Amino acid sequence: MANDLTAVRQPIERAQGLPNEHYIDEGIFEEEKYAVLFASWAGLAVAADVPEIGDAKPIEFLGIPLLLVRDRENKVRVFQNSCRHRGMILVSEPKKIEGAIRCPYHSWCYSTAGKLVSTPHVGGPGHNTHEAINKDDLGLTEVRSHIWFDTVFINVDGAADPFEVVHADLLARWKEFDKPMYHGGTESHFDLNLTTNWKLAIENYCESYHLPWVHPGLNSYSRLEDHYNIQEQGKYSGQGTLVYQQLKGPDDTVFPDFEGLSEQVGYRGRVHRHLSKCPTRRAA
Ligand code: FES
Repeated sequence: MANDLTAVRQPIERAQGLPNEHYIDEGIFEEEKYAVLFASWAGLAVAADVPEIGDAKPIEFLGIPLLLVRDRENKVRVFQNSCRHRGMILVSEPKKIEGAIRCPYHSWCYSTAGKLVSTPHVGGPGHNTHEAINKDDLGLTEVRSHIWFDTVFINVDGAADPFEVVHADLLARWKEFDKPMYHGGTESHFDLNLTTNWKLAIENYCESYHLPWVHPGLNSYSRLEDHYNIQEQGKYSGQGTLVYQQLKGPDDTVFPDFEGLSEQVGYRGRVHRHLSKCPTRRAA
């Protein structure tokens, strides 16, 4: 199924782009889904999607029904959104879990930490236990997750190296910003629906070449020549800009800056995409 990618893996100066099949072929999409997105850390949501204890939000991720939950201990967790009994979808729209997560089919109930807590009539009418049903073995299936800067990353296959190891360079680069983060909630949120192969969107953010023509406003103060590349073959690719200016409101107000940032960091902007296990990118 996989193409010969020798021409793609050449040094950036003479590398060729990915073959067309990598953008349109369902079989290759499936291969990449497992090899890239399930085998490493993928962004799923922001913790602010479930701002209060008990909040739950169903999210479908590449065909997998997932459930984002803020449990009673204020910990954000990701579960498979399916019941351990017969696989019913547990939560079909964002809601606050008032007691337990109750399956709408036969009412098995789970705590917000995923523990199976009740199995009504499972041993026959009026008998809520059965010797063959061990609740400790039948909790919700939790998906490995890691939160960094309020972003919830998941590792679907559970076998990736720890987030801090895979993204050690990224964490080091952003260390100066390692301060308490507050998400602005719905006012700071927008949805971007793209009908395209995911790599085209990623590749767009890895180059500034298009700015003069597609974003002339942005290019007027963060010009093509102000940008620089951040890349390590086989690990990540992205870009930064050497200039940064805040947009001003109608009365010249701006958002407050972080305190204590170095001059070098405080006036740069960055777009960065870590592509662990995705060693290719288009030649400029
Ligand atoms: S499928 Fe959930 S309780 Fe039966």
